[in-house]
Amino acid sequence: MRLFLDTANIDEIRHGVQMGILAGVTTNPSLMAKEKGVTYRDRVVEICEAVKGPVSAECVSRDLKELLAEARDVAAWHPYVVVKIPIDETGLEATSVLSREGIKINMTLVFSANQALLAATAGATFVSPFVGRIDDAGQDGMEVVRESVEIFDRYHLPAQVLAASLRHPRHVIEAAKAGAPIATVPYAVLKAMVKHPLTDTGIERFLADSKSYQREGLAQKAKS
Ligand code: E4P
Repeated sequence: MRLFLDTANIDEIRHGVQMGILAGVTTNPSLMAKEKGVTYRDRVVEICEAVKGPVSAECVSRDLKELLAEARDVAAWHPYVVVKIPIDETGLEATSVLSREGIKINMTLVFSANQALLAATAGATFVSPFVGRIDDAGQDGMEVVRESVEIFDRYHLPAQVLAASLRHPRHVIEAAKAGAPIATVPYAVLKAMVKHPLTDTGIERFLADSKSYQREGLAQKAKS
């Protein structure tokens, strides 16, 4: 499973890259609204250069002609850009046109396996079920991931399920077990995935015990 960060914050992305765990990034207008003093285009290009993997940038046009023009423009920003398009009838039509031009689409705001099937059939490269928001509505978000993965596998559809709107580390495990090839997580969830209280107390105890004997490793030599 590949991990993406769901953020437009460049510091969070650089940290993910440094940890060596980041394969891509997803952004959306709400995430971008938190970033000040930078244009969407400049931030997306900056993210592409940092992550060197797929970076989803969302379109906001509602009319087909405008959506096609916006998507082509966004796709030209950088070779790593994946154009994010919300699923509806216009979004599907745009996806079928753009995918035939070789533009990669992340079909977003997916809330059912039917929508996932349509997105994959129209030619989307990534299909994003919003697990947390489905859970918020009182339904089982992970079931949509499970069904979508099963359908894509059974019919050999090349689209990849990108589990999105993940709210906590358990969601990531469930998405992995459901067979989602990609999970996109907020930075806070990534940090929570790293942490375990027993790791912290274990490090403290080993550190304390290491002071009771002489160490002649490289770390000591480097200090002197
Ligand atoms: C994914 O591409 C979306 O940007 C994101 O996962 C939405 O998450 P939210 O429901 O927590 O806003």
